[in-house]
Amino acid sequence: MIEEIKRLKAEKDVVIMAHYYVDGEVQKIADYVGDSYFLAKKATEVEQQTILFCGVSFMGESAKILNPGKRVVMADAFADCPMAHMAAIDKIREVRAAHPDVAVVCYVNSTAEIKAESDVCVTSSNAVRVVEKLPNKEIFFIPDENLARYVAKKLPEKAFIFNDGFCHVHTSIEKDNLVKAKELHPEALVLTHPECKEEIIALSDFVGSTSEIIDFAKKSTAKTFIICTEIGVFYELELENPDKKFFAVGHRQFCPNMKRITLEKVKLALEDMEPEMNLEEELRVKANKPLVRMLELAK
Ligand code: 13P
Ligand code: SF4
Repeated sequence: MIEEIKRLKAEKDVVIMAHYYVDGEVQKIADYVGDSYFLAKKATEVEQQTILFCGVSFMGESAKILNPGKRVVMADAFADCPMAHMAAIDKIREVRAAHPDVAVVCYVNSTAEIKAESDVCVTSSNAVRVVEKLPNKEIFFIPDENLARYVAKKLPEKAFIFNDGFCHVHTSIEKDNLVKAKELHPEALVLTHPECKEEIIALSDFVGSTSEIIDFAKKSTAKTFIICTEIGVFYELELENPDKKFFAVGHRQFCPNMKRITLEKVKLALEDMEPEMNLEEELRVKANKPLVRMLELAK
């Protein structure tokens, strides 16, 4: 199957991009693996005519929004992030009416329709940097409340309005279980994604995006880590650090949508060159603005 994927990819001029949460065997055949910021940026730089995206739909959508001239094919049409739908357009308009100077800051884990209503996008790796650079004092941060609270704590000069979106994978990590894990591995450093609850962040040694967690573990002299994010990152962590040990906290650190993507589906998508990601041009243009602004501010 791997040989066939390589052959089809070369024959059809396709680049395969994958998020760190997909299965290790899919990460292994990808040309680029990264966090959502890296993947969005990389999508604007690749030369191939087609991007085959191994991730959830908002990631493929961002690639298409930023590169309308390229064909974007999804490895699985139904891999969707529930959090991407957890902001209401009516609420955004209501907040804008009540707070005319507000900046609507949209976590990239959101649908194109939500992005189209926003002023700027952010990812977990650039949210603090981007929001800090905005001239607005008032920030309506959508959809994720935990990331918003993490950013708000770092930027006390800003006034945040929160939204009640969440990631079911990251919020499944419970304080009691983390405390138990720390008791079992007292020497371990706790590395956490900012979508986790505040009480988990408070017990962590490092907070960052998936790529930042991986980079931190690589550079650290510590030998044991408790990982508070989706288990897909264990593939890269263990591959790159054979002398280090990584532990999860709970059995629900598993994104069922990311795990829909299999080698077989990658091969099928390459054979059929579908399901293709497409957007109405008017929506694409509107959703492109906050993404481009993010790429500029995050530099
Ligand atoms: P990253 O921005 O760290 O890649 O995270 C994306 C995501 O979906 C987290 O749940
Ligand atoms: Fe969405 Fe959470 Fe899965 Fe990330 S881990 S894609 S935020 S459901």
